[in-house]
Amino acid sequence: MSKPTYYITTPIYYSSGSFHLGHCYTTVICDAIARFKRMDGYDVFYLTGTDEHGQKVQQKAEAAGVTPKQYVDKLYDQIVRLWKVLGIDYDKFIRTTDDYHEKTVQKIYEKLLASDDIYKSVYEGWYCTPCESFWTESQLADGKCPDCGREVKLQKEESYFFRLSKYQDRLIKFYEENPDFISPKSRMNEMINNFIKPGLKDLCISRTTFDWGVKLPFDPKHVAYVWIDALTNYITALGYMQEDHSLFDKFWPADLHMVGKEIVRFHTIIWPALLMALDLPLPKKVYGHGWLLFGNDKMSKSKGNVVDPFVLSERYGADVIRYYLLREIPFGSDGSYNNEALLIRTNADLVNDLGNLVSRTAAMITQYFGATIPRPSGYTELDRELISLCEHTLDKVRADMDNLSAPDALADIFAIIQRANKYIDETTPWTLNKNGDKDRLATVMYVLAECIRFAATLLTPFIPATSARIFEKIGLPQPDDFGGLTRFGMIGEGVTVNKGDNLFNRIDVDKELKELDKLKEQSAPVEERQPEIPEITIEDFARIKLTTAKVLSCEKVAKSDKLLVFKLQVGDEVRQVVSGIAQYYSTEYMLGKTVVLVSNLKPAKIRGVESNGMILCAADGKSVVFVTPEKDIGSGKEVR
Ligand code: MSP
Repeated sequence: MSKPTYYITTPIYYSSGSFHLGHCYTTVICDAIARFKRMDGYDVFYLTGTDEHGQKVQQKAEAAGVTPKQYVDKLYDQIVRLWKVLGIDYDKFIRTTDDYHEKTVQKIYEKLLASDDIYKSVYEGWYCTPCESFWTESQLADGKCPDCGREVKLQKEESYFFRLSKYQDRLIKFYEENPDFISPKSRMNEMINNFIKPGLKDLCISRTTFDWGVKLPFDPKHVAYVWIDALTNYITALGYMQEDHSLFDKFWPADLHMVGKEIVRFHTIIWPALLMALDLPLPKKVYGHGWLLFGNDKMSKSKGNVVDPFVLSERYGADVIRYYLLREIPFGSDGSYNNEALLIRTNADLVNDLGNLVSRTAAMITQYFGATIPRPSGYTELDRELISLCEHTLDKVRADMDNLSAPDALADIFAIIQRANKYIDETTPWTLNKNGDKDRLATVMYVLAECIRFAATLLTPFIPATSARIFEKIGLPQPDDFGGLTRFGMIGEGVTVNKGDNLFNRIDVDKELKELDKLKEQSAPVEERQPEIPEITIEDFARIKLTTAKVLSCEKVAKSDKLLVFKLQVGDEVRQVVSGIAQYYSTEYMLGKTVVLVSNLKPAKIRGVESNGMILCAADGKSVVFVTPEKDIGSGKEVR
């Protein structure tokens, strides 16, 4: 019999900046759900990807002096590396710049035009470029974008419109007939009250003011609105309207679109209406999870409060991050991130509860039974309590995962771990050993090994690498499914444990918090850390005039800690130049020094002081040193 299918998606991530811990939240949750479903007997397709078109990308690429494609390629590399580090096991990664996707988006527009679901008119209204969202005057909050609070721009341009208004009644009917379509329930009310009831307006779905997007085949000066381009990824990735559409036939409609709460409206209004227009079945569920906050703010680059997942996973390992995100943030609501909570949660659950159970058990089996898991000899009431707990946990965890609640699932799994630790204290194996009660000792060890097997199997979808290490320690292969959880007592004869290193090392919270603070101070904003400087030709370089210059005088700029103003001898000429090196050099020290000047730099005023050039310096984030010729060569000499 063929397995039931399960199609789960994350949103495709904007390729217009770097990725922070908040971004990892959606993907880690989906990964845990996908892995759980796979182990629970489903044929799973887990899709993720990148949203690579749009005005924002074009602007960022221009600012970085690279082509949009070069810009998104770099971010693609970064996100693929991030998902690898975090152990994300997706089935497909779609990029909206993939050729098959672009071609299918064009076919979709043609189909919508043919069915008279789109028409040409003039768009007049407000646009938020960071959110790539259109707003009417009345939807603005204090004249700003109601989603992100940033500036919006008045737009007037010829555009194609999607007849969204036509689908209003069908959408309401669909919600009524499918009360679980939008979860949690509160988000359904939000959509109905804030968007549907005031009346749906037709949606502008093309742009002409930039060209980084999918060109409309019937009017190529228009590019597809980035949200239509993006939403359709969920079907183009499966081969919709393509030669090989077997995945589409097998997996569509999606079982779950997991999205952050700010993009629920795109997924529950625009997306279903678009699918209705295409005459396709609608997804079964859209879940709008809460945000990872930093203090009271959403973690986001514009607020400068991002936590770098690369840094955290390098310090603690991916599973610590996965565990924290899955366990600590109440699902559906917002959750506040802080370093201390991460470290305390790690010490309490992973080091104390899980780590201790595994290392104590492996150490005792090694000490008392030469590392071979002994056979049990008759269970007591106490043993039966643990056996029953183990045998019932899969059902509980399955119910938790049906509610998409990873925190509850993990709490239920940790109930086995905590109960087993208590069982060690209750049975005191060291006393049994001292008293020579080998039979009881053997049963206790067997019960513990089985509890670990149950817990590690159930933990696999959540912290897969740790689970693999636990199986290595208890000398069993890591299972691919939950088949081994049907019965307690499946560990056979002759299984040998390998004590090895601790699963997790205890973290000194105070010390580590200081280290993390230091790291934060040192790290410049991500964009500054990774400047996107493109390759240049020798001709480009020839346009930069570098000249030696001798310091004639040097003074501090009034009311500035950073700036010095120099009079420099440059050949026959005397130049005034401002440089931000006051924290690194005294005015006396600089007198008479030879520096290298970018001498054809356009004059600028810095703090009201005219500056005609720039002094070259080397910097490593902590200190700054000026560049000087190796021997005295005089001023005004060309540097090549
Ligand atoms: N490109 C759109 C999605 C198009 S889907 C057809 C987009 N991209 S995003 O990069 O901004 O967001 C990707 C996912 O990360 C979203 O689910 C978003 O909610 C999530 N998060 C981004 N910051 C977040 C937090 N601080 N906390 C939790 N998740 C957040 O939206």
